[in-house]
Amino acid sequence: MNQPLLQLKSVGIHFGALKAVDQATLHLAAGERVAILGPNGAGKTTLFNAITGMTPATCGQVILDGRDITKSSPESRAQLGIARTFQITNLFFGLSVEDNLLLATRGLGKTKFSMWRTDRAQGSECEIVDSALEKCQLQEKRKLLVKEISYGEQRQLELAMSLTSSPRVLLLDEPAAGLSPAERVIMADVIRGLPKTLALILIEHDIDLALGLVDRVICMYQGTVLVEGKPDEIRNNPQVQEIYLGKPRHA
Ligand SMILES: Nc1ncnc2c1ncn2[C@@H]1O[C@H](COP(=O)(O)OP(=O)(O)OP(=O)(O)O)[C@@H](O)[C@H]1O
Ligand SMILES: [Mg+2]
Repeated sequence: MNQPLLQLKSVGIHFGALKAVDQATLHLAAGERVAILGPNGAGKTTLFNAITGMTPATCGQVILDGRDITKSSPESRAQLGIARTFQITNLFFGLSVEDNLLLATRGLGKTKFSMWRTDRAQGSECEIVDSALEKCQLQEKRKLLVKEISYGEQRQLELAMSLTSSPRVLLLDEPAAGLSPAERVIMADVIRGLPKTLALILIEHDIDLALGLVDRVICMYQGTVLVEGKPDEIRNNPQVQEIYLGKPRHA
């Protein structure tokens, strides 16, 4: 097997006596799409925090492209190609859709950050913003204020913002949480259409949506990776059914 793009080796995140993530081992190939399932409190978001560096691992190793990034800052991991979206909406509601994207584009630039550096987006910034709008089906909403678009479109915008850094690994934390059935269809379509070179890890409580979008599934329970397999194997796994599939959270 080729070297994985991302590897977690026996990663733990402990909060006092609580092992929120316990001995988690996983690998992700370039362009691979993986879902993480698990009940509330299973440690899914905390696992994302170990990958992005928001909460550094207590023990174990995080390796990107063969390079140990366990102790790297969130900023340097972002520069190396790791991006994420959050479980909770995280936008500037009084700004337009395209200004939110411009802000995201400038936020990761090497120059000192300033939203107000110039009135208008520069050439390469325009391309990045246009590309993110197109991938997330938001071209027609670009001039609207965030508070004027629907909740589903706001979640699409968050995804678009995470694309502005041209990541190699994208972590999506419940992108469809709280969406209507129609909005979920659009979100699934957007995720499905993301570049095939982009590796994805998707946390999602909507099993049908998640299993339809990925190559492989990891099921977490009480901080540990309980089972791993292809979508069909996971759907039929009695252990998974018992701890998770019978109890959908966002039903
Ligand atoms: N900063 C923190 N300090 C203390 N405990 C924390 C912290 N962050 C998370 N936890 C605990 O770690 C455990 C795992 O939380 P986490 O948010 O990773 O779960 P999750 O699988 O994402 O759940 P959900 O599906 O509800 O989003 C929970 O018991 C949570 O209360
Ligand atoms: Mg979570």
